[in-house]
Amino acid sequence: MERFMNKRIGIIGLGNVGEGVVRSIDRYKSLISRRTSLNIEIKAVCDARPQKGVLAKEFSIPFTTDAKQILTDPEIDIIVELIGGIEPAKSFICAAFKNGKDVVTANKALLADSGKEIFSLAGKYGRAVGFEASVCGAIPLIKSISEGLVSCEVKKFYGILNGTTNYILCKMEKEKWDFSRALKDAQKKGFAEADPTTDIEGKDTLNKLCVLTYLCFGVWPDPSKILTEGISRISLQDIMYAQQMNCRIKLLAVAKREKDQLDLRVHPAIIPQEHPLAETSDAYNAVSIDTDPAGEMLFYGLGAGGVPTSSAVISDIVDIGLHDKGIARAQEKIVFKNIKETRSRYYIRFMAKDKPGALAMVAKILGSLDISIASVTQKEKANRASVPIIMITHEAKESNIKRALEKIDCLPSMASPSQMIRIESI
Ligand code: HSE
Repeated sequence: MERFMNKRIGIIGLGNVGEGVVRSIDRYKSLISRRTSLNIEIKAVCDARPQKGVLAKEFSIPFTTDAKQILTDPEIDIIVELIGGIEPAKSFICAAFKNGKDVVTANKALLADSGKEIFSLAGKYGRAVGFEASVCGAIPLIKSISEGLVSCEVKKFYGILNGTTNYILCKMEKEKWDFSRALKDAQKKGFAEADPTTDIEGKDTLNKLCVLTYLCFGVWPDPSKILTEGISRISLQDIMYAQQMNCRIKLLAVAKREKDQLDLRVHPAIIPQEHPLAETSDAYNAVSIDTDPAGEMLFYGLGAGGVPTSSAVISDIVDIGLHDKGIARAQEKIVFKNIKETRSRYYIRFMAKDKPGALAMVAKILGSLDISIASVTQKEKANRASVPIIMITHEAKESNIKRALEKIDCLPSMASPSQMIRIESI
């Protein structure tokens, strides 16, 4: 006769994902126990907003607005933290470990900020941490890397880790909308938050990059030291020029191991249209990983949404429920590459006054800093004040490009600050 195991969970946070977990456990509970011999019982749920009690009532689950009740309940085995942000989530997770409970979390902001401390505390108390839902929502990426690729070295990865910004960039390209119109549309459709800063300025992508860096390279980077640029400066004309180059602009998380150095960054990048990442449309996420010896592979799917993401949370509950273990990586020694030392090809757009010598001055500054021009296009006059000059450089050093653009932006012949987008040879 089959032996069934019971695990009782307490959920803190009934936002989109929390509600998705409650609904999915109710719906798939018997399927999960048929497949795994694990019975999951939601012992109690908590949200600081009393109105969330309605959901608990619908499923006859005890509800509280006081997290302490859940954190100290001796009958709860696993705490599912779904409130997001640093505090009080961090205190709740630490209290859970101290009270002998394992933790499942979707909180990338907290992991990026305090991952090292959280995993070390979990180790100290012998508890497990599941964080599948923290990166790429429903895509089983964390488990694939930690288990499926356990014998592989990750050489590099590129990720589209934020659905909101990918949706905005796709809309700009397809509908020929400017950034603010596409952002408003994303907010109307419920992808972007009322305050979209975390998504559009790249912070959400940065947090997820930190989690993946821990997983792939065994080290927690300091997020404040990683170059992070968002998409708010991307204009429709840049998207159109990229299209003319048979390329697309995507907000990428980049991680490349070069011997003992790790090159980490988040920024919009121009990538070839035929690369599968360029085909990632709307609010989808995708990660391309290059490994030794398994080669390159691509993960693609829904990166957000309460119900899809709940499948990642539940898979962690099942994993911890069955095996009493989460994912932890040994800390590796690695040096982070200074962004100034990185080399890339660059797309540069200048808005120059259409006067004799303007282009010559630009070329002179670039040449003096060892930046070689691969192509130049001067477009017809866009308006009376200025004309766009699009330059593509050969591979150049980031610090030289930055210095060149500072100088060029000071030229009297420039009508507005230059635009620079890195071209990623993926
Ligand atoms: N705001 C995120 C996104 C989803 O747009 O992808 C949650 O990580």
